[in-house]
Parts: sequence; structure tokens; C-alpha cells
Amino acid sequence: MKLALVVVAVCIASCFAESETLIREKRQQQKPGRFLSLPIPSKCSSRPKEFNYRGKNMFLSSHVPALAGKKVDWLDARNLCREYCTDLVALETQEKNNLIFRLIQTNDVPYIWTAGRLCDFKGCEGRTDLEPKKIFGWFWSATREKIQPTNRIPQGWGYNPWSQTGHKKVPQPDNAEYDINQTSESCLSVLNNVYNDGIAWHDVACYHEKPFVCEDSDELLNYVAATNPGIRL
Ligand SMILES: *[C@@H]1O[C@H](CO)[C@@H](O)[C@H](O)[C@H]1NC(C)=O
Repeated sequence: MKLALVVVAVCIASCFAESETLIREKRQQQKPGRFLSLPIPSKCSSRPKEFNYRGKNMFLSSHVPALAGKKVDWLDARNLCREYCTDLVALETQEKNNLIFRLIQTNDVPYIWTAGRLCDFKGCEGRTDLEPKKIFGWFWSATREKIQPTNRIPQGWGYNPWSQTGHKKVPQPDNAEYDINQTSESCLSVLNNVYNDGIAWHDVACYHEKPFVCEDSDELLNYVAATNPGIRL
């Protein structure tokens, strides 16, 4: 009788522990409750500085030994950048876009993630200025700056960076994967001739895994500087 009780007690303890582990593993696979990462001061100090554009350091993830093998989804890409006080690159001007297109061409990179994101999540409701989303709903997540309307050549540019073709053979963004299985194409990737269309912008579902370009984030550098007196960044 006594022994049986001990066995039951042990089983309750270990079975509980086991199911806890299983639940935790399952949670990690589903990646729920995903948040933005905070910068890591030591990583910010020693962050990669592959090239510099107008005072901002940048790097291509595949050129950084610690990240070289990593192809990650859009949020993981953002978070890997953010640990270094950087964020995904924003392509606000033609000059900067040309720089990144050249980087992709020179290094024969198949595709990258950028900071571009569709405002289609909680907090974007009721914003009539973002409608229709396909044209007016895009922004650079790193700076929260709006991306110019997708259906025309942006002001100050000589060409439209969005591809004029894709999976559905229509101009981008086309939200093509939504038609296949209701997965929204809410993230902005630069693809290198995937649709025989040269180097161009495409809307892509955010779960796809890609290398990425990071650029210095003033917000994160200022935060780390303010909270770590004397740190060299
Ligand atoms: C949707 O379709 C794409 C392309 O076929 C596929 O890669 C992806 O896994 C699908 N997603 C879901 C949720 O079924």
C-alpha cells in the first residue's frame, strides 16, 4: 500500500514535468507571443559595419560569420538585427535602393528581407489614410515611415521599385499566396530575378526564410547609449 502510494506520487511528479516540457516545446514550434527583441549592449558595441550609407552602418547577414548560415522569417530577421542596435533596412530613397540592389547583384544574393511591412495587424484598423491597403498600406517598420503608393513611380524616383510581375503575372504587391491558402503577403522582400523580372520589390508571406540586410537604428543606439554610460557604439 505504502509502495503503491510512492509510485503514484513519483508518477504524478514526473508525468507532470514531462507534459510541461512537451507543452513548452509545442509552444516554441508554434512561436506564439512573439515580441521585438531588445538590443544587447555588447553586440551593439561590436556590431558588423560592412558598409556605410549617410552615416548609417549596414551589413548583409550572409556576410557576417555569426549569421552566415541563417535564413529566417521576417520577425526573426528584425530581431537578429535589433540585438546589434540595428533594424531591417528601409529603402526610402532611390539612391539607397540602388545601393542595396547593387549589393544584391554584386553578391548574387537570391533575395533579402527589408523593413517593409503591410499595416494589416492590430492597431491598423480604422486608418482610412491606409486604404486601399494594397496601395497605401505599406510602411518601413524600423522607422514607421510610410512607403509611397505602390501603384506609381514614387516621388523623387525614376522608376517603380515594385516588380511589374510575379506569381500571378500582375504588378506587385499582388498578395498571391492569399489566393492559394489565405496566407497574407504582408512583408516586403527584394527578389533577384525570381520571376525573370530583374531585382525588384515583392510582397511575400512573412514566414518565408531569407537572409537580410540590417542598418543602424538611431532609436536603439540612443537607447543603449543612454542606459550604458561610457559605452562606445
Ligand atoms: C501556402 O502555400 C504555399 C505555397 O504552395 C506553401 O509553401 C505554404 O506552406 C502554404 N501555407 C499553408 C498555411 O498552408
